[in-house]
Amino acid sequence: MRNNLVIFLWAAFILMSVPTHSQEANYDESKVGTYILPDALTTNDGKKVTNQQQWEKTRRPEILKLFQDNEYGILPEAKIQTSYRVVEESEGAFGGKAIRRQVEITFNNDGKTRQMLVLLYMPKGVKKCPVFVSPNFQGNATTTTDPAVIESPFSTHERAHQASRWSYNRIIDSGYAVATFHYYDIYFDKDNMLSETIYPLFGINSNADLQDNTGKAIAAWAWGCSRVLDYLLTLRNIDKQRTIVMGHSRLGKAALWCGAMDQRFSMVISNNSGCSGAALSRRNYGETVSRINNVFPWWFCNKYQSYNRDVSSLPIDQHELLALIAPRPVYVASAQEDQWADPYGEFLSLQEASKVYALYGLETLEGCAYPAVNEPLWKGNCGYHIRTGIHDVTDYDWQCYIKFAEKIFFSAYGR
Ligand code: GCU
Repeated sequence: MRNNLVIFLWAAFILMSVPTHSQEANYDESKVGTYILPDALTTNDGKKVTNQQQWEKTRRPEILKLFQDNEYGILPEAKIQTSYRVVEESEGAFGGKAIRRQVEITFNNDGKTRQMLVLLYMPKGVKKCPVFVSPNFQGNATTTTDPAVIESPFSTHERAHQASRWSYNRIIDSGYAVATFHYYDIYFDKDNMLSETIYPLFGINSNADLQDNTGKAIAAWAWGCSRVLDYLLTLRNIDKQRTIVMGHSRLGKAALWCGAMDQRFSMVISNNSGCSGAALSRRNYGETVSRINNVFPWWFCNKYQSYNRDVSSLPIDQHELLALIAPRPVYVASAQEDQWADPYGEFLSLQEASKVYALYGLETLEGCAYPAVNEPLWKGNCGYHIRTGIHDVTDYDWQCYIKFAEKIFFSAYGR
């Protein structure tokens, strides 16, 4: 009897001390609080931005710098040498409808080396393929049942483990190429592991070498996506005007940051990116800035932590990240059961960002009601959907991304 009581008390103690999402987060819309968003269309010195030139010359660079200094950080200057080696290639992928190419990208600087392994599928018979660049969580071989895919060096998961997240058949059948890499190739998703990242090539070996505004994991994964694009742009059959960076969750945050920085990407897709991705930070709903900084201190620059106590003192909010993508197409996708990522906050953020698209004569989401689940809302160059289901990437998501890309990329000109 006494033993049972001890076990009960012990279990209760464990349950109380394990932080779960629901215990610490607010999911009550009436407790979101009031907030004033920084205006994407007012310059730091208070001038209204009313045209494209002012946006591109003044306001966009201001916002970009604010994100670099306060949230994602920047990578130090470094002369990194890059080389490419095709380690495997076949014309017989997916029953012969695609070319599979596996490319090792080697980065060198100052006697330090790091490699990334890229898996690329290109549909056969398409002269110029639009391309998705999208990092993966568990290693290239986990994205497919294709037995020829080489296991990424830091992968610890079995083959095809996350294949459901990669609609390769649909992508290829739609005439799109797709390139992926294991995010650990660039930056281990753990604290105090800077040696297991590209950072030694930038002269950074430990946390002591980081400045307040030095980017960390999110900035590094974004950097990795840009390096894949560098390679893709050397290929004749890749359509350089139709390149898409897409990421899920923490890699959705990285995809958005990458697309904001690297304007060579012609479209940006955020899949369930949530806090410090597409969702507004000032809304107290689901994950918060202080929670993300406390649990994942290796994701953002150190300065970001100084906003933990008072998020309203952040000089930016996430709608301005989305606005940095303008006028290029941006797609934000949420999932109904992923309240942690604040789906409604993701929508509001896109809606606010769409005002910047108006400077380019594009339709905005202003006045649009929150769409019903599984009913995508696309206006101008902004796309949004909330689908049924959990935090994940599904075939439905890919179906929407491809349809949206087709509409934007090809409806005006045809293929
Ligand atoms: C955690 C984290 C999120 C992140 C997610 C993911 O839930 O709190 O911010 O997006 O992991 O990457 O799956």
